Amino acid sequence: MKVSNSQFSLPAGGLNSKLRIGVLASGGGSNLQAIMDACRTGKIDAEVVAVISNKENAFALDRARKYNIKSVFVDPKKFNFDRKTTEVLEKQKVDLVCLAGFLMKISKEFIKKYTGRIINIHPALLPKFGGKGMYGMNVHNAVLNAGAKISGCTIHFVDEKYDNGEIILQKKVKVFKNDTPERLQRRVLKQEHKAYPEAIKIFIARIKAHE
Ligand code: GRF
Repeated sequence: MKVSNSQFSLPAGGLNSKLRIGVLASGGGSNLQAIMDACRTGKIDAEVVAVISNKENAFALDRARKYNIKSVFVDPKKFNFDRKTTEVLEKQKVDLVCLAGFLMKISKEFIKKYTGRIINIHPALLPKFGGKGMYGMNVHNAVLNAGAKISGCTIHFVDEKYDNGEIILQKKVKVFKNDTPERLQRRVLKQEHKAYPEAIKIFIARIKAHE
């Protein structure tokens, strides 16, 4: 999949060492785990250097702590979430921001600052079944209600519109006649765990091609 130059920006100073990833997650963090595993096994030339959540009890934070990765709960009721998050990302010298089950709207300013360096995973084949309200089980319900025969996941750049930025990678799964939203979710999630590291690999390859 081609990634256009317009969506793409080099980390300051190029990429001389491992790509430094910051993950924003609100929930269980199985995608975060897949990214951390891919880093640890050397599948991708990257390291997760910060995990930030808007939920104090997000299991994603526990997963990160287990590997001594900087994990921060930013309480949106107490702080300007985007400003605090930017502080952490800058301090950790993050090159790429990965949204992985992050259920909070981020500001235009934040997106502008990280244009071309912020990506998201969506549990369906965009541009279908995306947009406002399309998250979690809503997505799988919508896929089944529409009678779609194929679903999957999408990794895409984030821009100011929901689920709109350029697609980096998609993986497909078959939808079966007797599928429940839960069963479909499980199969899609399995593909998500392969897709996220692959998408990061594509991102790194693009950076290297620009150097
Ligand atoms: C995934 O299905 C992802 O596509 C969506 O939220 C879910 C997060 O799952 N954006 P996890 O927290 O990574 O397990």
